[in-house]
Amino acid sequence: MAGYLSESDFVMVEEGFSTADLLEELTLGASQATTGEVAAFFVADLGAIVRKHFCFLKRLPRVRPFYAVKCNSSPGVLKVLAELGLGFSCANKAEMELVQHIGVPASKIIYSSPCKQIAQIKYAAKNGVRLLSFDNEMELEKVVKSHPSAKMVLCIATNDSHSLSHLSFKFGASLKSCRHLLENAKKSQVDVVGVSFHIGSDCPDPKAYSQSIADARLVFEMGAELGHRMQILDLGGGFPGVEGAKVRFEEISSVINSALDLYFPEGCGVDILAKLGRYYVTSAFTLAVSIISKKEVFLDQPGREEENGPTPKTIVYYLHDGVYGSFNSVLFDNTCPTPMLQKKPSSEQPLYSSSLWGPAAEGCDCIAEGLRLPQLHVGDWLVFENMGAYTVGMGSLLGGTQACRITYAMSRVTWEALRGQLLPAEQDDDAEGVCKPLSCGWEITDTLCVGPVCTPASIM
Ligand SMILES: Cc1ncc(COP(=O)(O)O)c(C=O)c1O
Repeated sequence: MAGYLSESDFVMVEEGFSTADLLEELTLGASQATTGEVAAFFVADLGAIVRKHFCFLKRLPRVRPFYAVKCNSSPGVLKVLAELGLGFSCANKAEMELVQHIGVPASKIIYSSPCKQIAQIKYAAKNGVRLLSFDNEMELEKVVKSHPSAKMVLCIATNDSHSLSHLSFKFGASLKSCRHLLENAKKSQVDVVGVSFHIGSDCPDPKAYSQSIADARLVFEMGAELGHRMQILDLGGGFPGVEGAKVRFEEISSVINSALDLYFPEGCGVDILAKLGRYYVTSAFTLAVSIISKKEVFLDQPGREEENGPTPKTIVYYLHDGVYGSFNSVLFDNTCPTPMLQKKPSSEQPLYSSSLWGPAAEGCDCIAEGLRLPQLHVGDWLVFENMGAYTVGMGSLLGGTQACRITYAMSRVTWEALRGQLLPAEQDDDAEGVCKPLSCGWEITDTLCVGPVCTPASIM
């Protein structure tokens, strides 16, 4: 193994015990503790990340995955992905420092923000990070002055009008402007080595990938004509993180494979990358949060007669964490978190209109509204699945800190499989001084692709 992740980094989940059991144990422990200090925490199933990786390699064997650190920069995630051999896509200095701190070499880092501070470009230069993105002339000028040996990837705009998040408004050069940018780069002696794009998140139309791959081919040709050695195609992110997404990963990957065969056929000498965030981490994280306060709000309607029965009410629950903490994805990623209850309600229990709010004393800290829940109490725990993306470690982007504890877990079978895949050279007679190629990893997918280990105790 490469040694990024060790057994001390996670709880080994033995046969007959699931991460759901672990979550229950932790909430019970927290409820019984007299200090009341732990009122929200994550359980992260690192095995889910390993399974996602092998599924990726199986479906997109020509694509080398990088991980978009901004999506979840918690140490367990970074270590397991480094162990799996991924490269890292960093948006700023803080993210580059994080991955370098765990021992990832600079050659596996892309500084992928097209808008960069000069001081941070200098940091990349000093620390050996050579692959950088750009989409405008200003960025080129900065790189010429601060990092002349950088290799640049031109980020092109996509048609992301159908996606949940629209990145092309902010990032990406139009096709019309590409020739001019490539000419300027040539004049300034900056090497442009490839093209990247990001189709946005939750895109309902996988053809957006094939359109962008076709666009990238055009830009490759322009670059080659002007004397640039174009050799990297970066497909960006946006791959779904949960089962039941509008478009399934299988569908997206088959569209991508066909487009690659057409525009970048095998043997064309182009290194194909993707920078995935949510795909790897969303389903791996489960958040448990306790209720710290509640109140009933009566929905008085003017002119309403007393005889019409009891006044309708809604119950407002205040949770220990809100949209400025672990529910950040509500603001950042437009998610609608749906809680599950740890204690399964009986079918006779009446349900009430309810809403969930974070602890901040202002009106934007709303986690979810319009829910139908049984009567809950202060100290009860709510469990939220699929909480791995844009929830943890957003401090590097938003200037805040994240205090919510994370307990990492992995089943022994996944750990053994992970270790088996990355046997060091001296233990492997066939490997000549190198680790076994990771791309063979998908062969164990079928054994690992049993349902998620973290199944909630009860589902509303
Ligand atoms: C340039 C870039 N690449 C990759 C990603 C990861 O996206 P996702 O989490 O949708 O895979 C992002 C996210 O915003 C991004 O900005």
